[in-house]
Amino acid sequence: MLELTINQKKHSLDADPNMPLLYALRDIAQLTGTKFGCGLGQCGACTVHVDGTPVRSCLTPLAAVTGKAITTIEGLASGEGLHPLQQAWVDNNVPQCGYCQAGQLMSAAALLKQKPSPTDKDIDTYMQGNICRCGTYPRIKKAIKQAAV
Ligand code: FES
Repeated sequence: MLELTINQKKHSLDADPNMPLLYALRDIAQLTGTKFGCGLGQCGACTVHVDGTPVRSCLTPLAAVTGKAITTIEGLASGEGLHPLQQAWVDNNVPQCGYCQAGQLMSAAALLKQKPSPTDKDIDTYMQGNICRCGTYPRIKKAIKQAAV
């Protein structure tokens, strides 16, 4: 059994330590907000936080995250309301198909933790690893700026 802490809850998973975290989140823990895009570490759809750092869960084996704090899109908001970024996403109608947006939000949250008032260039640089097939980048940037302090 592997002991994982996901969104501040303990989970005991009967899984191979080499299994990618993404599969365990979706198929075992039933947390399907995190998406499978490329499976190769190239699109960012599967981004979650491990001890506050954004990681590609498709490339992260379970063995690397036992004993660490994993946060998924389901755990982004603390307390009752939406996370400020989630609210900004709603206010700006950011998603089109929506598939990449959980990963976009998790990367944006990590950016704002690092840089609470990012410049356009900071946003472009930090978010460049998250691909959006629909091209929602201008709205993503607008929403990040809205949520920034
Ligand atoms: Fe992990 Fe694309 S699914 S980076």
